[in-house]
Amino acid sequence: MAKATKTKRASVTVRGPHKMPVHLFVNRQDYELHVEPRRTLLDALRKDLGLTGAKKVCDEGTCGACTVIVDGKPVYSCLTLAIECEEKSIETIEALAQDGKLHALQQAFIEEDAYQCGFCTPGQIMSLKALLDENPNPTLDDVKRAVSGNLCRCGAYPKIFRAGLRAAEILRSKKGA
Ligand code: FES
Ligand code: FES
Repeated sequence: MAKATKTKRASVTVRGPHKMPVHLFVNRQDYELHVEPRRTLLDALRKDLGLTGAKKVCDEGTCGACTVIVDGKPVYSCLTLAIECEEKSIETIEALAQDGKLHALQQAFIEEDAYQCGFCTPGQIMSLKALLDENPNPTLDDVKRAVSGNLCRCGAYPKIFRAGLRAAEILRSKKGA
């Protein structure tokens, strides 16, 4: 006869299922939202904050079109809950251009013609931004690895890789200027 064993219950804080206040810090701005705990970061950005740069394509963590940067790391926002991001710094493609000037990555994507339909582009750029923020002098392999979670159905990869390297060059030359 099997022996009954006593197990300790872990103390967990249950949140929801109803809407609750959530504080997000996005692109250096504070936002107070009222969302269900199951709300993904992607839906919070697109539907609640109107930041539609991150794209909803697969909505299941396979394409990378929804990539944003959270505390310096690229994440799939369709697989991340908004409530997980409280107290964290979130950066989306909308924050890249400053004072009407494109970010080096945006400039490089245009110069290298690194897109066709453009659906994967915001995600590709955010993955590369996370790389360049950490490593200003990436190799081709670094660039390939950085976008390895971003699918491009148009097959623009060679140009995307060139754009990543070109953006690193532009940023280095700006720093040296
Ligand atoms: S929409 Fe998030 S990975 Fe595809
Ligand atoms: S440019 Fe169309 S999916 Fe990448």
